[in-house]
Amino acid sequence: MRIPIIAANWKMHKDSQEAVDFVESLGEQLRADSVEAVVCPPHPLLGIIAEPCRTYGLKLGAQNMYWEEAGAFTGEVSPLLLKDIGVHYVIVGHSERRQLFGETDQHVARKAKAAFAHDLTPIICVGETQQERQSGQTMSVISEQVTVALTGLDPSQARKAVIAYEPVWAIGSGQAATGTDAAQVAQHIRKVLGEMFSLKLARDVRIQYGGSVKPDNIQEFMREPEIDGALVGGASLDADLFAGIVHNAL
Ligand code: G3H
Repeated sequence: MRIPIIAANWKMHKDSQEAVDFVESLGEQLRADSVEAVVCPPHPLLGIIAEPCRTYGLKLGAQNMYWEEAGAFTGEVSPLLLKDIGVHYVIVGHSERRQLFGETDQHVARKAKAAFAHDLTPIICVGETQQERQSGQTMSVISEQVTVALTGLDPSQARKAVIAYEPVWAIGSGQAATGTDAAQVAQHIRKVLGEMFSLKLARDVRIQYGGSVKPDNIQEFMREPEIDGALVGGASLDADLFAGIVHNAL
């Protein structure tokens, strides 16, 4: 039984007042819902919305972290600190981290491992570029990203990981993948997980779709049995829109 998980990735948006207002508004609108809703603000806002998130039963997620616990790593944030302020989830390997900040599959693997070591759940992002899709490499790119990211994880950890399939060309473009295409990739991810771990584990892992998700297209993804939720960027900045996505996902 996989509980749907819809996460808001605010990226580098919102100030403290906007963040609190969002959480209160979303919390009021979602009270009766049985989906896991996660809010991932920029790091400085995590501590500010931790308490309101708790009040409304919303989960708190970070957008990134470093794998070391402490040390001379200027500008980085450790899993210990995230745990300390009440974070549950951490996004690792988002395509913007990969493309703009040089994050590799090996970095993603170290971050996923460090997350589990500190009782945080990684949302591991994978996805092909437009060029990779056009040249028929989608499945091989996904295989490589998933395999490297999860290598070295204990099955008891891998089972809890969330994998976000985000085709790079669909992010912020208004051009979402089709439900069928996303489901095919999700199915492929389960095949890779089955080969790495077990078929049972492959069935247990939650897979999100991300890329131009809106209230009016979320159903196209959620009606696919392979897809368990969404990682939402642009439409997660507005509490009403994000609440609409969560409602329509059920
Ligand atoms: O993390 C979220 C994704 O990058 C999707 O962003 O919903 O703005 O396309 P988007």
